Amino acid sequence: MSKKIIGFSKLSRQEKIEWICSNYLGNSKEDLEILDKYLNNDINIQSIHDTFSENTLSNFYFPFSVAPNFLINNKNYCLPMVIEESSVIAAASNSAKFWYDKGGFRAKVISSEKIGQIHFLFNGEFQKIKKFIDDSKSKLIDATSKISSKMIKRGGGINSINLIDMSRKYNNYYQLSISFNTVDSMGANFINSCLEIISKKMCEEIKIPEYLTEKEKDINIIMSILSNSTPNCIVKANAECQINEIGEINGLNSKEFVEKFFHAVEISKIDLGRAVTNNKGIMNGVDSILISTGNDFRAVEASVHSFACKDGEYKGLTECSIDNNIFSIKLTLPISIGTVGGITDLHPMVKLSHKLLGKPNSSSLMEIIASAGLAQNFAAIKSLITAGIQKGHMKMHLINLLKKNNATENQIENAKVFFKEKKITSKAVQDFLNLN
Ligand code: MEV
Repeated sequence: MSKKIIGFSKLSRQEKIEWICSNYLGNSKEDLEILDKYLNNDINIQSIHDTFSENTLSNFYFPFSVAPNFLINNKNYCLPMVIEESSVIAAASNSAKFWYDKGGFRAKVISSEKIGQIHFLFNGEFQKIKKFIDDSKSKLIDATSKISSKMIKRGGGINSINLIDMSRKYNNYYQLSISFNTVDSMGANFINSCLEIISKKMCEEIKIPEYLTEKEKDINIIMSILSNSTPNCIVKANAECQINEIGEINGLNSKEFVEKFFHAVEISKIDLGRAVTNNKGIMNGVDSILISTGNDFRAVEASVHSFACKDGEYKGLTECSIDNNIFSIKLTLPISIGTVGGITDLHPMVKLSHKLLGKPNSSSLMEIIASAGLAQNFAAIKSLITAGIQKGHMKMHLINLLKKNNATENQIENAKVFFKEKKITSKAVQDFLNLN
């Protein structure tokens, strides 16, 4: 076992690599070569990536793909998507093509509020802390003026400060819930900086009022941090068509298709196992655009899954209706993102993704992402209720299986033909390679 190392982050890249190679990788020459191969030859590009994170040794590639034919609010997009799962892009493209001639997707941002929280302990009367917060609100907001002036110029800033009494759930626990508008930025740094300034100001101001006792003045700020729960940062997407426009899909006529689709969506409302998988499929589309556009996919994942529990039970997020001969699918998602700030102005591929999308503002990007989530879900359910997911999945995965088994270029080309109408399994691919 290796010894504890102090000051690892201060070592040069080469020293760090040598250390992990000798302690964890058995000084393997191949591993050294891989780390080296994945470094960018252009030192300008490499230095951008080096600064995103501490202890960067090399880069880690994911495919950068595009899904064309996305008609969203009457605009035709080619979506940049970063994902390793082979069938996701094919599914998105298939769905986009399906909806293109039927009016495409409609999406609309409903709200874009973000919340920051100051969690603190106050040992005293609620009415007194309430009076203090009411009286000090403008001073607390003014304290942030230095860092919020730019945001205010762009139309954002702090909307409101609310005191929440949590003391029945936890002794002496109160919360300041601060509502922000961060316009086109995700705003995490802005919100967190404002919260830290407000906490500090609160501790100073609370020393002043005479109506507070010494014990009451001694508030204990536990932490100040934005909330990744964003139930008021909402975007809706939908797509609809006449049932007879759908035509036959893999042996199902239009009516059979929409009915089966409806059942699949209803099942995701009542069964946890299916609900989670349904939503995972939505997130295939959502996350891949979040990543290509340099957004924090973990934040959106956390928010979306908590939103799926908003009725006290985790549910599938898709809605489906069949009314007056119209088949309609809808999706409502809490998506907190940015189109400026973070790595959006730094990562060359992220910049390219924004350009590909026509440099959308954050509202348009929210609409694009929600539409992609809905498209992905439609494609998944469409496959599930007809041919099954594995056919398309394994078709895309065939090349991975061949490469895993060291197939030559010739074998890969032959396998593509051979497996056109055959079931693809890991065993079938191995058998094919043994004979060819
Ligand atoms: C696979 O990544 C996603 C699906 O399982 C989603 C779904 O079942 O709805 C196909």
